[in-house]
Amino acid sequence: MKTNHALAAPSLLAANFGNLAAAAESIKDAGAQWIHIDVMDGHFAPNLSFGPKTVQDLRPLTSLVLDCHLMVDNPLDFVQSFAGAGADYFTFHVEAARHSNRVIQAIKAAGMKAGVCVVPGTPVNVLEEILGELDLVLVLSVNPGYGGQKMIPTALEKLTKLKAIRSERAYKYLISIDGGITTGNAALAREKGADILVAGSAFFEAADKKAVIQELEA
Ligand code: DX5
Ligand code: ZN
Repeated sequence: MKTNHALAAPSLLAANFGNLAAAAESIKDAGAQWIHIDVMDGHFAPNLSFGPKTVQDLRPLTSLVLDCHLMVDNPLDFVQSFAGAGADYFTFHVEAARHSNRVIQAIKAAGMKAGVCVVPGTPVNVLEEILGELDLVLVLSVNPGYGGQKMIPTALEKLTKLKAIRSERAYKYLISIDGGITTGNAALAREKGADILVAGSAFFEAADKKAVIQELEA
């Protein structure tokens, strides 16, 4: 059914960091249109991963959408470098930004699509004043830092709320979910309102990656 269709965004966090070019290629070959890039600073998220140089080096290798998820403190400090690197979406955590509206304006002025993310403990109500400005809302369904965790089910209700608010107010944002998404729970996430399904382990650990994308997107 058309309304339940979603796009898969395989996350490079579960790829072999020694060969990201091959990982990007495998995402394209599997039929996905988005690549999710998890950026962690060791402060907001208890791990380290990629930076703007990763995006800069991948950009000439792929025409897929580079969906950057910044799990970092002070996200405003990174807007220019990610824009210069060729990021398409810049999604930051509302918990990490003192002036979220300012960050959104900076992202758009730099020519990127603006996204905001909430961790499992943050309700979506705190986004009320900025939802009209956003291109994407990312619901993190695990605590930040690591792939391969189990989805926290309360995240699913956030999708439903975001979908209801979007239709009530004719907002335009895409609704994305990230963390513990598998072929087993993708249909439920779509049904609850997800337009984008981020999947790290479920994609990179699968032998038949094309089948995973088809099942995620359905
Ligand atoms: C959490 C990351 C993860 C990751 C997804 O910090 O944002 O959610 O991309 O990994 P999986 O799909 O393995 O949960
Ligand atoms: Zn992510």
